[in-house]
Amino acid sequence: MKHPTGSIRISEQADGDGLLDFEDAVVDGLSKVRKSLPCRFFYDERGSQLFEAITLLPEYYPTRTEIEILREHADEIVASIPGNAVLLEFGSGSSTKTEILLEHCPPTVTYVPIDVSPSALAEARQRLARRFPALTVTPVIGSFTDPIDLPPTLRSRPRMGFFPGSTIGNWTPEEALTLLRSLRDMLKVNGRMIVGVDLKKDAQTLVRAYNDSAGVTAAFNLNILARINRELGSAIDVASFRHEAIYDPRQGRIEMHLVSIREQTIGICGRRFHFLAGERVHTENSYKYTVPEFQELSRRAGWLTGSVWTDAGSQFSIHELISPAHA
Ligand SMILES: C[S@@+](CC[C@H](N)C(=O)[O-])C[C@H]1O[C@@H](n2cnc3c(N)ncnc32)[C@H](O)[C@@H]1O
Repeated sequence: MKHPTGSIRISEQADGDGLLDFEDAVVDGLSKVRKSLPCRFFYDERGSQLFEAITLLPEYYPTRTEIEILREHADEIVASIPGNAVLLEFGSGSSTKTEILLEHCPPTVTYVPIDVSPSALAEARQRLARRFPALTVTPVIGSFTDPIDLPPTLRSRPRMGFFPGSTIGNWTPEEALTLLRSLRDMLKVNGRMIVGVDLKKDAQTLVRAYNDSAGVTAAFNLNILARINRELGSAIDVASFRHEAIYDPRQGRIEMHLVSIREQTIGICGRRFHFLAGERVHTENSYKYTVPEFQELSRRAGWLTGSVWTDAGSQFSIHELISPAHA
């Protein structure tokens, strides 16, 4: 993992799982019979900015609802956090929601935001330094799917995880099970984790959230093609693709696709990829859960389930998970 200049180096891991190997992932994904691109590559500098713009859209209820729940229950959520705790955030992005928790945390906690987006981490770090001058922030550029080796001074401290934004929904339930297990290992015995999970609801509300009238989510989805052009020197006609978001009620997931408007062949890194008119590239899943479904998944991953906080309209949920000694 890489660390922004000036931060403590937590580990010397290279980009081991090929996370930052954009070229390999693109070639691999577009070589499949059903073409796909991994959603973690949405978040270059432009993608992170577009995601922040999405969070402000009237149709995009998850961010404002999760913030509303956090504001209402922040006291309870961080009530038991010890003063020497390490607060690890998985996919921290702008760290906006974290500020709500930090306002209620002892000033002596150490905050470790983990994200694949260096620009988002750098911006968040600067903002947090102004807002919480006494806070120690130790950003990690990399994937939270990799093990994290905390520096010796932090290793024996109690750990609390924060995993907001329903990012867990980007994994299939089976993959989420594996991820929840590995996060439990990372947070150690008696570790706690606060997870934001979007709830199942009517298809119209869901589709509108991922297909807004201003076209910001479309720009976010299409940006991955622009990123291929920028970083891999391709010449994809981005306008020859359109954004599509559909809800699959059977799987309980929103799917985002890029649809080729016409038949075309695209060159990337010396390879050629053929697209039929109407052919799709699957770019993201966003699974939705009921509260009992997510609790069941967490228990299967070895967590004890604690409090659950929701909004009055039952749109979004925040779960407290506790890592037991015996799991
Ligand atoms: C849906 S956004 C949520 C951002 C923020 N936590 C929030 O709730 O508003 C997902 C964030 O996770 C990051 N991300 C996605 N996959 C990741 C991975 N495997 N490792 C680290 N960060 C990841 C993205 O860069 C992005 O900032």
